Amino acid sequence: MLTNKRILLIIGGGIAAFKSLDLIRRLRDQGASVTPVLTKAAEEFVTPLSTSALAAQKVYRDLFDLTDEAEMGHIELSRAADLVVVAPATADLMAKMAHGHANDLASTLLMATDKRVLIAPAMNVRMWEHPATQRNLAVLRGDGVLVAGPDEGNMACGEYGPGRMSEVPDIIAAIDAALGDGPLKGRHVIVTSGPTHEPIDPVRYIANRSSGAQGAALAAALRDLGARVSFVTGPAKVPPPAGVDVIRVETAAQMAEAVAAAHPAEAAIFAAAVADWRVENASGSKMKKDASGNAPALEFTENPDILAGVAQMAAGRPKLVVGFAAETDDVVANASAKRARKGCDWIVANDVSPETGIMGGPENRIVLITDDGAEEWPRLPKDDVARRLAQRVAEALGAN
Ligand code: CTP
Repeated sequence: MLTNKRILLIIGGGIAAFKSLDLIRRLRDQGASVTPVLTKAAEEFVTPLSTSALAAQKVYRDLFDLTDEAEMGHIELSRAADLVVVAPATADLMAKMAHGHANDLASTLLMATDKRVLIAPAMNVRMWEHPATQRNLAVLRGDGVLVAGPDEGNMACGEYGPGRMSEVPDIIAAIDAALGDGPLKGRHVIVTSGPTHEPIDPVRYIANRSSGAQGAALAAALRDLGARVSFVTGPAKVPPPAGVDVIRVETAAQMAEAVAAAHPAEAAIFAAAVADWRVENASGSKMKKDASGNAPALEFTENPDILAGVAQMAAGRPKLVVGFAAETDDVVANASAKRARKGCDWIVANDVSPETGIMGGPENRIVLITDDGAEEWPRLPKDDVARRLAQRVAEALGAN
């Protein structure tokens, strides 16, 4: 519930603006109050009258509206909220935010606020994938802006791909998480998840059977305790949770880069099943069968060990570094040796022998290895393992 939470909702000018009217209703159903702000372009998609009727509040539209200034200046308006939400966040609004423009009411409020900002981007897939938008996104993330979505799917413009504004319940989950008062409020945690894909050529790759379920559950559990989660995920089968900052990667090298860019963090948890090797002689074009029937010889080279790199950082090491160990034999002995070798604080060890059904399955049975020894947990759904682990992380980092 969002009882008595105050949301300043900036509606940008995109076709998804119609969903923001529903967002206002749902937020109010949850007990929040919504102060709406429309950009000029947004007024082309939704009317000020319907917006203010649904919010049961005045709608703010113009920076130089003297009546507004007499009632409440833009500085106060930007700060009288618990959270600023931009939905839909258009490519233009994101660009303005990233570059610090303040030439209309929405951009001025975003510059003046001292509150957290959550954006729900929505735009055509090409605009979303454009390097300029991706650059702006990286800048905004670096500034601590929270990002919900966008989703992938059919778009109003007839194209398919990422760019569709997240569904209202997902935006509300992200708002809930941003306003959470849990023990990890204000703490930044990096979580890696999923498999990595190591290319052989442009159409083939080497992968593993990780579904990304445990990593996604862990990210959601940390979010629910109030953490700001940077979720660095390989191509997983399980979708990333709402309310976390999702950074999608393919290869181990990209994962290492994304983790490096996400620092500083108070904790880093490495749930990804990173490929140990990549193909050194990967081909830039599709490999063809040769007439003599000879199979190609793949040469492998070791990938960077992301966990060990962070665990052994000379400066700025997260207070808590947690690795996972997927083993099939001598689980505790192998995992304890791995903990010592990599230099991490904890290892979450599990037996991934096929008969356990753990890899890719709904449950997990872990042994938590810390300075105090090995702790065997009962077999539990991955969500429950995640909640217990998140709780332990919160205890290790100390309450706020
Ligand atoms: N890991 C990582 N980067 C790698 C390989 C592994 O960050 N290049 C992390 C995983 O996310 C996991 C932990 O290291 O948290 C253990 O991974 P695992 O593959 O079990 O360990 P390895 O060091 O590869 O050892 P093994 O010889 O058992 O494969």
